Amino acid sequence: MPLTTIVGALWGDEGKGKVVDAINEEADVIVKANGGGNAGTTYVIGDKKVILHLLPSGVLRGKRSLLAQGMVARPDQLCKEIEEFDNLNLGIDPRLHMTLHYHLALDYAREKAADLKAKGDNKTSGGAIGTTLSGIGPTYEQQKSRAGIRFFELCGDEAKLRQKVKANYEYVQGIIRQLGLEMVMPDRKIIEGKYVIEDVPLSLEQCEELAVESGKKLKRYMADVADEVLTAYKEGKKIVFQGAQGTLLDIGFGNYPKVTSSEVRAPAVYTAVGIPAFPMKVVGIVKAYPTKVGSGPVVTCLDCQKWPVDESFSDPVAKIIRERGQEKGATTGRARRVGWPDMVILKYSNNLNGFTDLALTRFDLLSDINPIKVCVAYMIDGKVTDKYPAWDLDALTRAKPLYAEIPCFGDITGIRNYDDLPSGAKQFVELMEKSTGAPVSIISVGPERSQTIFRNFKAF
Ligand code: GDP
Ligand code: IMO
Ligand code: MG
Repeated sequence: MPLTTIVGALWGDEGKGKVVDAINEEADVIVKANGGGNAGTTYVIGDKKVILHLLPSGVLRGKRSLLAQGMVARPDQLCKEIEEFDNLNLGIDPRLHMTLHYHLALDYAREKAADLKAKGDNKTSGGAIGTTLSGIGPTYEQQKSRAGIRFFELCGDEAKLRQKVKANYEYVQGIIRQLGLEMVMPDRKIIEGKYVIEDVPLSLEQCEELAVESGKKLKRYMADVADEVLTAYKEGKKIVFQGAQGTLLDIGFGNYPKVTSSEVRAPAVYTAVGIPAFPMKVVGIVKAYPTKVGSGPVVTCLDCQKWPVDESFSDPVAKIIRERGQEKGATTGRARRVGWPDMVILKYSNNLNGFTDLALTRFDLLSDINPIKVCVAYMIDGKVTDKYPAWDLDALTRAKPLYAEIPCFGDITGIRNYDDLPSGAKQFVELMEKSTGAPVSIISVGPERSQTIFRNFKAF
């Protein structure tokens, strides 16, 4: 099969970057099809660490790398990432929508307003989402209302572009004023270990200049990605679709409204890229334990559902994992909430994606936790269920996890063959396979490219 999709099975940050990088060795074309600056993907290559938000991982191996229609992208962020690479083989679809700075201002204003209204109670459906403040929601919203600026317009007639930017700036300014707030951009910083956001005023002139200048720089990368992928497919080339975010953040099937604004699931790739539904492999990336940045219920949460994380309420297991695993967002630097492994959400994710393979990541971080609790069902209002009511955040807040226990298995970072794994580790893998019916064919035991166990895995 020449098509392989890499999809986040949980709430994002599963380690998609590491797995996609391993698969890319054999690929000809790597395509990103959803999300934008909200994604933060880390690649560890020898002693070098690279974090990318927009560019597909193919750029690390000099492969043809494409941004498809379903993505959104901030032009200045694109220019900055592009500058880091020589001889990029990059194509950007003209239909892709641009995130401009006023989208960030609107995202920020809405989050502030929601927080004020909820008075800090972000547990259920109320309150701020905890977005990455990357302007994602407002960009997709303008796409749907047909007022957005596509890559095509960004690189087109300058006078028309300025007019559109002005109209959109004024539209956004109107909404922000109605909220009683100012047109300011969020500048995220970590100061003395604390996540802080500073306000930066935003003018129309800034937005116009940025759009015009970046359009001139980026025009050379314009490519009809839908047509190119179809042609590559017909020529028998090997194509990887690199997902962003995770299934439980999907706009339709995630924990709405605590979700992102794009379709994240594997089948959504076809419409996001613009190709027929050819058969494909679907590799679900599953972190050994779930993490979540942003608010919303996590049934197995070890941080007492607190968002933002307040460690005085956290279980010691969460503290150990967060400390050792550096569980902080690659995009925002915010601490991620940690939970016990949860087979209920994994089953739900499998039903939506149809995993042909699972890649288990960050398995090393569970190695000396004893015992490891794995959630196999929920008790909701006195009833036991293994079905996940993704749409009902109040029910998920009331749900009590029911656990199986797996014994501690010790250091596995040096293991490269499945048969050499300790029995506790194998029990964990078998439980995941039983819950989904999909084989765990990749096991990642450390951040390095080499720290990977392949089990009869075929990338294509
Ligand atoms: P993505 O958004 O899914 O690509 O994931 P992120 O890059 O945001 O976060 C995953 C983090 O886990 C990165 O820092 C990776 O280097 C790291 N990582 C991936 N696999 C493993 C693993 O098996 N063990 C450890 N310790 N770290 C890993
Ligand atoms: P990668 O690709 C983890 C979360 C945010 C927030 C919600 C909405 O690195 O796995 P948005 O900015 O998209 O409007 O925020 O979605 N979120 C992510 N969480 N990893 C990501 O991407 C995410 N992208 C968005 O924290 O809860
Ligand atoms: Mg990430």
